[in-house]
Amino acid sequence: MSYWFFFNSIVFIYASWQVLQHFSYQPTYTHILFGFLGLLFFLFNWTRHAVFSTIRTSSNRPAKIRWVNLSKVIRPYHRWIGTSALVMIIIHAVLIIQRYGIYWTSTKMLSGLFALTTLIAVVLSGWYRLVKPSGWIRRLHLRLGLLLFVLIVLHLWF
Ligand code: HEM
Ligand code: HEM
Repeated sequence: MSYWFFFNSIVFIYASWQVLQHFSYQPTYTHILFGFLGLLFFLFNWTRHAVFSTIRTSSNRPAKIRWVNLSKVIRPYHRWIGTSALVMIIIHAVLIIQRYGIYWTSTKMLSGLFALTTLIAVVLSGWYRLVKPSGWIRRLHLRLGLLLFVLIVLHLWF
């Protein structure tokens, strides 16, 4: 099993806890709900990396076949879940900016804007990878995904 399953679960638990805290003191929380949905969609797609790593490193053949089959079932949804994550986060950003305006000095806002820019790059590289697969675009899609993971952790932390 890849250690990425563990990291992804920690981020999921931490974000759920933050979101529940928002719900307990904010009268309106639609902006938070869209951020959380975008995060869930991202984590679902990012877990593909954990699955691929497990398939590559596992020596247990029946387990490997099970992971490969699961991966095949999920494959057609990957692109739409990734694109929906972008739509959710754009709505999150619009609602936040309507509510608070843009604060260039806020680390929460800056980390969010960097994460959004990276998410756009992940989605574009994903579509390009689908149309014209090659080694460099595979690496780019994966590295942008990793960068996005780090930026989202910072966004939740600030
Ligand atoms: C991939 C991109 C993004 C994800 C996954 C995401 C996710 C989240 C989540 C789950 C929350 C609620 C938990 C918390 O407060 O930590 C949140 C809050 C927040 N996000 Fe984002 N976000 C993203 C992009 C953005 C962008 C682009 C902006 C700026 C326009 C932004 C600004 C904020 C702000 C200001 C809050 C705090 C809201 C409040 O306290 O009422 N986020 N985000
Ligand atoms: C939240 C956004 C996304 C994330 C985090 C993400 C992440 C990943 C990861 C981790 C992999 C496995 C990498 C590897 O080891 O090769 C992958 C594969 C792939 N991704 Fe994405 N992705 C996202 C969105 C998209 C979108 C919108 C598309 C559009 C078509 C896409 C197309 C692909 C393709 C074609 C593969 C190759 C494997 C397969 O066909 O399943 N991705 N992605």
